[in-house]
Amino acid sequence: MSILFSPVTFRSLTVRNRLWVSPMCMYSAVDGVVQEWHHTHLAQFASGGAGLIVAEATAVVPEGRISPRDAGLWTDEQRDAWAPIVEAIHARGAAAGVQLAHAGRKASTWWPWAAERGSVPAEDGGWVSTAPSPIAFEGYAAPAELDAGGIDAVVDGFVTAARRAVDAGFDVLELHGAHGYLLHQFLSPLSNQRTDQYGGSLENRARLLLRIVDAVRVEVGDGVPLFVRISATDHADGGFAPDEAEAVAAWATEHGADLIDVSSGGLVAHQQIAVHPGYQVPLAATLRQGGRIPVSAVGLITAAEQAEQVLAEGSADAIFAGREWLRDPHFGLRAAHELGVEIAWPPQYERAHWR
Ligand SMILES: Cc1cc2nc3c(=O)[nH]c(=O)nc-3n(C[C@H](O)[C@H](O)[C@H](O)COP(=O)(O)O)c2cc1C
Repeated sequence: MSILFSPVTFRSLTVRNRLWVSPMCMYSAVDGVVQEWHHTHLAQFASGGAGLIVAEATAVVPEGRISPRDAGLWTDEQRDAWAPIVEAIHARGAAAGVQLAHAGRKASTWWPWAAERGSVPAEDGGWVSTAPSPIAFEGYAAPAELDAGGIDAVVDGFVTAARRAVDAGFDVLELHGAHGYLLHQFLSPLSNQRTDQYGGSLENRARLLLRIVDAVRVEVGDGVPLFVRISATDHADGGFAPDEAEAVAAWATEHGADLIDVSSGGLVAHQQIAVHPGYQVPLAATLRQGGRIPVSAVGLITAAEQAEQVLAEGSADAIFAGREWLRDPHFGLRAAHELGVEIAWPPQYERAHWR
């Protein structure tokens, strides 16, 4: 009996297995509109046996893009470009999610293979980023501090993007509260030095995230699963730490989040991470609190047995993999075979099925 290939239910959605595709930016959108690349890229994982595919960090407002090439959900045109991609994922038996994101002070940067690094200047299509406090990420331009109206506009951005995501057919919404982007910037004392109700105590630093969880839940209703990705530690002195992450995970689920997607890091350039296979699994296990809070594990989980073990030992409820799916878009078919589990193959591929 494989846990990895057993179904799991969140609200009105049952996902066929627990081996999922982690959100991965493709930096290939045009004015926030996803393209043919995204279609081919995301649909292949559904053919390859993924249970859930969460599409890349998708900006809820234009200034929330990491780069000028990020995907977005702030216009109807962007929504309509996502719809056939979601349909293609569904046609191949997988569930589709999207990661709703705002990059905060890490916005307006060059995409990874651009000739330049750091912040994109205005003359090249860049913009002034916004953040809880006017503290720059090392090597990037300084952000402008969000005022109360700016914070309200961020909440509105998440709500309207959530509406468009559901209208495009997405089954799952994930809030990007990790990797040093805006919601994480609010959580961490290293990037949040506000003195209003959004800064200082952990309750205050978590206020924006919880406000968005509440507002999105009201907008999309009770049926739609809502996940929250968080960085459970900044891997830096004085930063957001696992005990705080435990509290935030519990609050988010009390507010109606259905799963905490446990990642780490990304807030500061001087972070110290010891990367090794499954390096973030212990953080997932901590936040899971013995099964009280549904969590997913991510980070260098690259093999079927390893993924099965993480679930069997009770460290997580589901597995997100990123780069392994890029190396092998049919990772799911292969993982099932390696675990001796019979899963449905696309009939077009049946002749390649290991028997
Ligand atoms: C090309 C690429 C793009 C990524 N983009 C995102 C993203 O949009 N949102 C996010 O939360 N993580 C992003 N990540 C991180 C992955 O989702 C994942 O957490 C990380 O790669 C660790 O998992 P892995 O070892 O299985 O790749 C990205 C990773 C890669 C390789």
